[in-house]
Amino acid sequence: MSKPAVLTLDDKEYVFPTIKGVENEKAVDFRTLRSATGYISYDEGYGNTGSCQSEITYIDGEVGILRYRGIPIEQLADKSSFLESSYMLLYGDLPTQFELDQFTTRVRKGAAVSPMMCDALKGFPRDAPPMGMLGSMLGAMSCYNASMATNDRAVDLEHFDEAAAAAIAQTATAAALGYRVTKGLEGNQPDPSLSFGDNFLHLMFSEEGRPYKAIPEVSRALDLMLLLHADHEQNCSTSTVRMVASGGANLFASVAAGCGALWGPAHGGANMAVIKMLEEIRATGDDGSKFIEEAKSGKSGKRLMGFGHRVYKNFDPRAKIIGKACEELLNKLGIDDPCLDIARHLEQAALADDYFISRNLYPNVDFYSGIVLRALGIPSDMFTVMFAIGRMPGWVANWREIAMNPKMKINRPRQIYQGPALRDYVAMEDRG
Ligand SMILES: CC(C)(COP(=O)(O)OP(=O)(O)OC[C@H]1O[C@@H](n2cnc3c(N)ncnc32)[C@H](O)[C@@H]1OP(=O)(O)O)[C@@H](O)C(=O)NCCC(=O)NCCS
Repeated sequence: MSKPAVLTLDDKEYVFPTIKGVENEKAVDFRTLRSATGYISYDEGYGNTGSCQSEITYIDGEVGILRYRGIPIEQLADKSSFLESSYMLLYGDLPTQFELDQFTTRVRKGAAVSPMMCDALKGFPRDAPPMGMLGSMLGAMSCYNASMATNDRAVDLEHFDEAAAAAIAQTATAAALGYRVTKGLEGNQPDPSLSFGDNFLHLMFSEEGRPYKAIPEVSRALDLMLLLHADHEQNCSTSTVRMVASGGANLFASVAAGCGALWGPAHGGANMAVIKMLEEIRATGDDGSKFIEEAKSGKSGKRLMGFGHRVYKNFDPRAKIIGKACEELLNKLGIDDPCLDIARHLEQAALADDYFISRNLYPNVDFYSGIVLRALGIPSDMFTVMFAIGRMPGWVANWREIAMNPKMKINRPRQIYQGPALRDYVAMEDRG
């Protein structure tokens, strides 16, 4: 038992229990704060607020640690696969071969989306943003998989295995279909003989009489990219999924909300912003030095995209892995991407610069992931969609954790009201 915390407020002492996590993370349990004291805790941006106790992912941002279900991301990147890690995120443990085969089959079987969803996608404008289309399709999945999306917790949990596989597989299918529709191309049918990543690339790029030809280095890089994005604790989109799930909403409605949260440039949109930044730097003939000065001045509103993180105050461990994989992939494919040279220069310059050092700003996962995705042939406006495909197992695992908790309360933060004090309604004719 950890020692309780004593808080003095208005000359009165209150005692609150404390909680310790498996890795010695400490929290003051303020659940009775308001009823006991009349105060609420104020923590805009939630930087000091634990919204839940979770068994899924552990991060120590001070030293740069990320673990899924206790296993370091470095080991998973080296030895596991996206689907195996997804299984572990969903169900808690590494699967046996039988469990993995069963799960893989479920994902493959669940990959086809309803033809009506394909028709719905055709109704979007040709220049529709891929994240807008994907979010709509995730919401639509609750209509086309209605028996698994009843908002009756017991029923939705009974269908969880199928629903989870459908959410993971159909996200990839819908993303690829959205791409083809906006290009005026017919959609491809999923190929259950292919791995998760190869099937996605087939859905994107196979043409009549010219099927997508898998390249082992490409398959591995895509699988790694997805695995590294699979979960990341209580980030903006995952917290959104949990928030929506806490109201009792079904899996598809909850992950659709998460998809909206991911879209923003401070979150999942950063990988697109990195490539845009690198291209802009290239177009001006700068090697990155001028841009760094602008980002430091803060005047231009520019930031060094792909640098900094709310939680990591050290190297993002995923950035190390993906940076190395990026070099290897480009070498193997013989791609000479000038953006990689600029990225390398930016990284070296920023890591030696006091501005970035003093603020603990290190490269995050997005810094190199865009270059990898570009090498895989993924258009840059789809980068955030790729992040969503990778993050889906994490969202689903977090939905399940909420759904399986019988003590779960609806998430409902409070606020400090700072608007006008009580005043009377003024009739139209009396308004100045
Ligand atoms: C990720 C991010 C939103 C985290 O933000 P945060 O923890 O709230 O940090 P803050 O925005 O409070 O920034 C703290 C300081 O570092 C500076 N800073 C943070 N990220 C910076 C960046 N990428 N480039 C330049 N300066 C940056 C801020 O200007 C601020 O400086 P100040 O103390 O002089 O005012 C932020 O680092 C960022 O915008 N990064 C770029 C976008 C990105 O890569 N996002 C992907 C995250 S996985």
